[in-house]
Amino acid sequence: MQTNFIPEKIVQDSVEKILKRYKISEEKAEEFFLEEAFKNKRFMENVLEFSERKNFGKWREYRKVIKKTKKNVYYFLRQYKHEPEEKIKEKFSELRKALKKEGKLEKTLELHKELLAMHISSKERTESYKNFYEKIFRVTGKPESVLDVSCGFNYFSILFMKLEKLLYAGTEFKKEFVEEMNQYFLLIKNYSEIKAKGFLLDLRERDFETRNELLDLNKGKEFDVAFLLKLIPVMEREKRGSTNGLIEAIPAKWLVLSVSKESMTKKEKIAFKEVKIIKNFIKENNLYLNTKIDFENEIVFITKKE
Ligand SMILES: C[S@@+](CC[C@H](N)C(=O)[O-])C[C@H]1O[C@@H](n2cnc3c(N)ncnc32)[C@H](O)[C@@H]1O
Repeated sequence: MQTNFIPEKIVQDSVEKILKRYKISEEKAEEFFLEEAFKNKRFMENVLEFSERKNFGKWREYRKVIKKTKKNVYYFLRQYKHEPEEKIKEKFSELRKALKKEGKLEKTLELHKELLAMHISSKERTESYKNFYEKIFRVTGKPESVLDVSCGFNYFSILFMKLEKLLYAGTEFKKEFVEEMNQYFLLIKNYSEIKAKGFLLDLRERDFETRNELLDLNKGKEFDVAFLLKLIPVMEREKRGSTNGLIEAIPAKWLVLSVSKESMTKKEKIAFKEVKIIKNFIKENNLYLNTKIDFENEIVFITKKE
């Protein structure tokens, strides 16, 4: 097979097309495009010839490559953790070393921010976490126990809560996520008064066993605050009705719900759609909406069970 190089202009135009729509770095967009292009034999054999033509963008093989690239980019972004696992592990071991050297959680704020930025959901809050929690706790009061449902990397933000003593429980639906979380909790045990544990919880199932384990951890009491950040719209979009009965599985007094203002994958405003889903959720679950807070990238709804 005779393969040609892809002219720089074609690569650049394609990267621009991807960047226009998706929240991804230029380097990553190029990587995804080239990967798909190299896979397509017909594209590689004819790209030079076709690149001379005016209607290159309409060429069938090119459209196939772009379509597949966009699909790959979308699925990559949907994974939430948008850095390769090795990079996350590297950063975590940097944190381990820094903590050993500094001896205090507060002295590793920057590394915590870098870890938070490795998950698409917490990335948006990295610079505003302190304000985020301050405003929420002004309404709920300073909690002694926090339950973070489907927390992603949000557990790396515990130190921004500025709580002296805290019992924190995080849940995630994949075993490896929970293991990573518990590794972090084990690490910070020596450097803080935070007692924390990660739980495996797949929200597609109504798992009341986990509810009991959570209550056991908190000596039989409901948690003061539960976070369900950027979760309800994600679940409802994936499958309508999938949040039915969810509230009963969450033992907490205050329920803090939130929605993204912009799509996490596409450059698209979605606040309106998402707020509609949350309002519906609040109504259907007879929740009392105490306060709505409008942050830069996220809208938070502080609710209580009625
Ligand atoms: C949009 S992210 C929000 C993460 C975090 N709450 C935050 O705001 O930083 C949605 C989270 O839901 C989790 N998730 C996806 N499917 C799930 C399921 N079936 N059960 C429980 N959690 C799930 C993902 O792992 C991801 O961390």
